[in-house]
Amino acid sequence: MQKPKTGRISVRERLKAYRSSRKSQIRSDMEHYGSEILNSEELNQAYGQTHHTWSTVGEHTLRVASASLAICYMLRKLHIQTDIPAVVKGSLCHDLGILGRNEKYASKSECSREHPSDSVKVARRLVKDLPDKSADIIERHMWPAGHSKAPNSIEGVIVSTADKYAAVKDIVQGSEIKHTGMKQYVSNLVSGNRRK
Ligand SMILES: [Fe+2]
Ligand SMILES: [Fe+2]
Repeated sequence: MQKPKTGRISVRERLKAYRSSRKSQIRSDMEHYGSEILNSEELNQAYGQTHHTWSTVGEHTLRVASASLAICYMLRKLHIQTDIPAVVKGSLCHDLGILGRNEKYASKSECSREHPSDSVKVARRLVKDLPDKSADIIERHMWPAGHSKAPNSIEGVIVSTADKYAAVKDIVQGSEIKHTGMKQYVSNLVSGNRRK
């Protein structure tokens, strides 16, 4: 005999619904607080510049902003409030100063040292009355790498952490536009070896 339907939602369905609502919340916060950056020529150009070997500055930027917001939502569940507008503006601008890297910087270490303050300049151009907190997030985002000062706010720690997480995702998942990512590279390698 067939079991009667209880109307209960499975764990998988709950997870799917949670992910989809989180995605739309991220999208809405980004559009609400970062529209001038999302519609900028700089972010458009960022999709043309390779970043972390397999990705682009544009895709990395969106990964950092999405991961930063996901951390903010998790903290909210623990009753820890964060400044979401400052996080959106800071994360979306944190690497825009790196555009034209090869012409601008003489070495990798110069790029790593200088691009945060160049990103603050871009952010001030794109965002009217850029909050000081966003400027600090951008200036200190390289921490704990290189010569960067440590973040001076919880939002700064969130974006710096999301930046490292997104860098790993850039390498593993790569870019939908330019590269296929380490995952695809390894899978091609393995299937190539199997054919031999
Ligand atoms: Fe950076
Ligand atoms: Fe970054």
